[in-house]
Amino acid sequence: MGTASDIKLIGDDGLRLDGRGLDELRPIKMEINVLNRADGSSYIEWGGNKIMVAVYGPREAYPKHNQDINKAFVRARYNMAAFSVDERKRPGPDRRSQEISKVLSEALESAIMTELFPRTQIDVFIEVLQADAGTRIAGLTASSIAVAAAGIPMRDLVVGCTAGKAGGKVVLDLSKDEDNFGEADLPIAVLARSKKIVLMQMDGDMTLEEIDQAHSMIFSATDRIYQIQREALESKYTVDASQWGE
Ligand code: CDP
Repeated sequence: MGTASDIKLIGDDGLRLDGRGLDELRPIKMEINVLNRADGSSYIEWGGNKIMVAVYGPREAYPKHNQDINKAFVRARYNMAAFSVDERKRPGPDRRSQEISKVLSEALESAIMTELFPRTQIDVFIEVLQADAGTRIAGLTASSIAVAAAGIPMRDLVVGCTAGKAGGKVVLDLSKDEDNFGEADLPIAVLARSKKIVLMQMDGDMTLEEIDQAHSMIFSATDRIYQIQREALESKYTVDASQWGE
């Protein structure tokens, strides 16, 4: 979290720098099956984030010591393109991308019926083309529909959102300025229907009451984002029965 106290994140009108209300999401668009060679794929735009996801598998796990005789091994790889951020990002894995890859793998694994595919691996490549705060959650939300598009059985979709504190207020879906200069950042992802938490991280300081408020903002936002996920899936898989006549 930054310390630039001279940046006023909430205006006198109660609105945020980008004009949003405190519990307003940035615009979100998702699409599936955007890559021909992947088993499943998706593309998401969430605010200024632009992220592509490609899913391969289940396929035989390699090297063999990764094979689990009871279940599939889920390996998400989060990567930021060198041109995705203001200051060129050095290509290749770093501590941040390794941490994000790990928490995203675990979150996805809790939704996938891995027990149906012993000794296999499921690879989920998350390529951040343009980053604008909230990339781990946007990447995870997009990954979940890419896994579904690959035809891999899932218990539920994974859907997430970030909330936090900026300019002394609890706000939903932090912008880049709020992420940099705000007081706290709390990304959460859940199984869409049961609301079981599968990812929760926090950076900064909030009181217990503020965390409660952030949780309820996130839970109601995930219902809206889940609808967008379903629409993205249904728009490719819905058959227009009218073509067969009455
Ligand atoms: O993206 P997310 O909020 O999940 O993770 P973060 O580590 O809190 O990063 C917040 C934002 O900082 C990213 O979304 C990027 O916009 C930016 N960032 C950057 O400019 N350069 C980096 N090497 C890493 C992050």
